[in-house]
Amino acid sequence: MLRLDTGNALPFLNDGALDQLRPRVEAAHQAVLDKTGAGNDFLGWRDLLLDPNDALLEDLAATAAAIRADADVLLCIGIGGSYLGAQAVIEALTPYFPPRQDDAPAGAGDLFGQGASRSPEILFAGHHMSGAYLRELLAYLDGKSVYVNVISKSGTTLEPALAFRFARQFLEDRFDDADRRIIVTTDPSKGALNQLQRERGYKKYEIPRDVGGRFSVLTPVGLLPIAVAGVDIRSLFYGAVAACERYASTQDNPTLDYAATRYQLHQQGYDAEVLTAFEPRLSGIGDWWEQLFGESEGKEHKGLFPASLQYSTDLHSMGQYMQQGRRILIETFLMTEDDDGDLAVLDSAANLDGLNYLAGQTMTHVNRKAYEGTAKAHTDGGVPNMTLWLDRIAPGPLGECLYFFEHAVAVSGYLLGVNPFDQPGVETYKKEMFRLLGKP
Ligand code: PA5
Repeated sequence: MLRLDTGNALPFLNDGALDQLRPRVEAAHQAVLDKTGAGNDFLGWRDLLLDPNDALLEDLAATAAAIRADADVLLCIGIGGSYLGAQAVIEALTPYFPPRQDDAPAGAGDLFGQGASRSPEILFAGHHMSGAYLRELLAYLDGKSVYVNVISKSGTTLEPALAFRFARQFLEDRFDDADRRIIVTTDPSKGALNQLQRERGYKKYEIPRDVGGRFSVLTPVGLLPIAVAGVDIRSLFYGAVAACERYASTQDNPTLDYAATRYQLHQQGYDAEVLTAFEPRLSGIGDWWEQLFGESEGKEHKGLFPASLQYSTDLHSMGQYMQQGRRILIETFLMTEDDDGDLAVLDSAANLDGLNYLAGQTMTHVNRKAYEGTAKAHTDGGVPNMTLWLDRIAPGPLGECLYFFEHAVAVSGYLLGVNPFDQPGVETYKKEMFRLLGKP
């Protein structure tokens, strides 16, 4: 079970502040449960956990199995909430380096377990507008068995729509069964993708209307790519279901402690939160978290600025600012309790690098001491920090972690007095861009 340690944040809080805040925190939490707060028609991300659709999970698994059996590459086309969740979970739950191709035949693995089979490569497009990226991507795909999952709730977002034009053409030029290789994930009926899907008979998954993009990782938006990557989507989903039940309580609820602590620190003048992980495979969770908190809280000139870092890599770059820059920062460490495989430091006869004092210690131990040292140094340097501990990096705990942040940001948005489920600010740049592009 997930655990939040706020020990290094409490000394920075004004005396009695959390106790005074508690009634407001509980009211915000209740507004999420009772659907009485702003944006309450966008709480479908909880409903889908309160009433799990097992048939949909099975259907997604079956589609994923068929793709795994035939594809070298699944190209996922989407931006923002339509790709960050899938990318985060896939990065966290698949090996750093793919198994050797000749060791495992395609599609031979167990879809609901991380089998040893090789998985199709999961690539992303439509998450920016680089022509160079698209050109090189299409050249890379040439000669491979490619499937495309185009994911857009509105069906009108420029980046994925442009990328999909290229991907469709690519498939139609090469495959007689191009239409079978395209899976559309979009609104139940609205938007341009629906018209095309109907005309061409593409397989389609629906994004519930009441689930916003950044809350959609546990809908087909995230679940199909994640399943194609070979991850056990049932355990992921049910990890979130268990968290949704657990965090409905006001007692022993770390989502409320997290929301309250960061809110109170924000009131005291801390304006940015940095999420850091010492395990690189968790850095995608940081990117997903940035969008979740940035889009949910950053409005009406309010909200902590969210930024994610990866340690110890970034201790050698941003570590300087963290330690001695402006004291507007709070930090949340994302850590795992388990040992990642006991790779022990080697003994060296010559000991020229002087590291024999570490010989026999596991890399996990060294990495853990780096975390402990960093937490202490940053506390001493004036950065209030918390640590969110996951049991291990596995589908169930990851599902719990996703829900933890979703619930926390909803409560947090209500504490700030904003609607956590809209994003009016992202339209402004689009208006300017479309004007410059001459959109009729
Ligand atoms: O969270 C959001 O709502 C956004 O990030 C959207 O997911 C993003 O803009 C993509 O929108 P769409 O799925 O409609 O293409």
